[in-house]
Amino acid sequence: MKIIRVKDQNEGGQKAFEIFKEALADNAQVFGLATGSSPITLYQNLAKSDLDFSDKVSVNLDEYVGLDADNEQSYHYFMQHNLFYAKPFKKSYVPDGSNLDADQATADYDKIIEENPIDLQLLGIGRNAHIGFNEPGSSFDAKTTKVALTQSTIDANTRFFDKEEDVPKFAYSMGIGSILKAKKILLVAYGENKAEAIYNTVEGPVTEDVPASALQNHPDVTIIVDEAAAAKLK
Ligand code: GLP
Repeated sequence: MKIIRVKDQNEGGQKAFEIFKEALADNAQVFGLATGSSPITLYQNLAKSDLDFSDKVSVNLDEYVGLDADNEQSYHYFMQHNLFYAKPFKKSYVPDGSNLDADQATADYDKIIEENPIDLQLLGIGRNAHIGFNEPGSSFDAKTTKVALTQSTIDANTRFFDKEEDVPKFAYSMGIGSILKAKKILLVAYGENKAEAIYNTVEGPVTEDVPASALQNHPDVTIIVDEAAAAKLK
């Protein structure tokens, strides 16, 4: 794993932008994208750049079950308003949260991932080291699954919803097995909330209790961390 330490999320966004730019120059065709607050400075840099993704494909990690694409809390909506409004891709895929038939929705998404092998996968990380919505205990071989969100993830997401009962309890998430198939992986993490997760991911044992520790098994992972998120690294 290559660790890049930055001062803050702004500098992290610039470094991540450089990595996206290099991937484009290397002829990457498929970009795996992520939501959450951590990728936002990267997306701001991409949005104001002259990079062109109009003949590329994007594949997002996850989506809440039960939210339509036009729901403001959906990840479809997030992507539209943080990146795609400025940088349209030829085709952008996000799991279909409005499809309540989990078998169908996950099989459809696996087919999309198979047909569009990911060149560069962007990841954030949860406080419990989840990636995508793969919570502790998720299999490292998994493909797309319907995931029951843990209470800590539900609590972390409550701030985005008016009432706690509105917070979705399930999501469709690309599995860790599919994430590990990406040619290159870039994880971004900022703030002291992430320090424990980053320590366990980088220096802890590889275990399904720490989903992101699976990245130790991948040959090309870069992690961008600010000082607070790197605080526990030796
Ligand atoms: C959600 C998303 C993850 C993201 C995580 C952390 O759980 N499904 O993809 O990494 O939140 O979000 P943030 O970057 O806002 O801390």
